[in-house]
Amino acid sequence: MSKVLVIGACGQIGSELVLALRERHGNEQVWASDIRENPGEQLQNGPYKALDVMDRPAVESFIREEGFDHVYLLAALLSATAEKHPELAWKLNMEGLFTILDLAREGAIKRIFWPSSIAVFGPSTPSDNTPQETIMEPNTVYGISKLAGERWCSYYHEKHGVDVRSVRYPGLISHGSLPGGGTTDYAVDIFYHAKAKGNYSCFLSEKTALPMMYMDDAIRATLELMDADADKLKVRSSYNLSGLSFTPEEIAREIKKHLPDFQITYVPDFRQKIADSWPASIDDSAAREEWGWNAHFDLPEMVREMLQFVDEKKLFASENKG
Ligand code: SER
Repeated sequence: MSKVLVIGACGQIGSELVLALRERHGNEQVWASDIRENPGEQLQNGPYKALDVMDRPAVESFIREEGFDHVYLLAALLSATAEKHPELAWKLNMEGLFTILDLAREGAIKRIFWPSSIAVFGPSTPSDNTPQETIMEPNTVYGISKLAGERWCSYYHEKHGVDVRSVRYPGLISHGSLPGGGTTDYAVDIFYHAKAKGNYSCFLSEKTALPMMYMDDAIRATLELMDADADKLKVRSSYNLSGLSFTPEEIAREIKKHLPDFQITYVPDFRQKIADSWPASIDDSAAREEWGWNAHFDLPEMVREMLQFVDEKKLFASENKG
């Protein structure tokens, strides 16, 4: 049985990944960690450590004391927030990664998961069916940090034998927690507004196609990659990962099948430029061939589940907060 640490556990991915890992390894084996003093209710079924990932000595001494087989490093500033706070984004997205890579090089961690993103691609990348290896000239702070991180992962694997594994997540759609600071967040927001108010003002234009994935698939991809035999994995930067691809207009049409009165309007803001720089769809044949990846959820199924499980009261709670 492995002892596991998830850093950034209170975020959109972490809050669901921790629960999936606790089911597999046992609650006490899986530590959740985040900058917050206390985790939410959801993560209270196992151990928790408040940690600032930028506090290298604190992270190092905790990991050395406890000893972890697997570390999932999820703490990051996403694309939209990173454009507003470039220096903090670079610091947060890179420093934690070096700390964890160095600990693995010294043998204190056996295996690392670190997420990359479709944001590593840029305006000069072929936009449809974007290949695993292609032109990568990201023009966002987030994308630059993820591309640099990918290169460092690959470097630590080649030079120091560090077992680090990564996927380029598409936009992730989930009902467990509200998203924070991403360009693809509209595809989550839309469900809360559809259920709570019957209308949504979308910050991207109707024809903006982006790669997306339902969280169940994303968690399964993460666990399957971490389970894969090391000698099968040829990509140590990050794997392309494909689930769905749709536009705001297409998801709205699918929602209308369940809520016929739902209305959407389009008021693109600064996030439109970020979305325009990213691919419309992704070729993930390397992940399929090397570790058997295959997405399960299509658009109708994802929409059906989201409308069933989204708790629109969370929207009002977050609006009242600020
Ligand atoms: N969902 C992320 C974002 O929009 C992309 O990785 O920033």
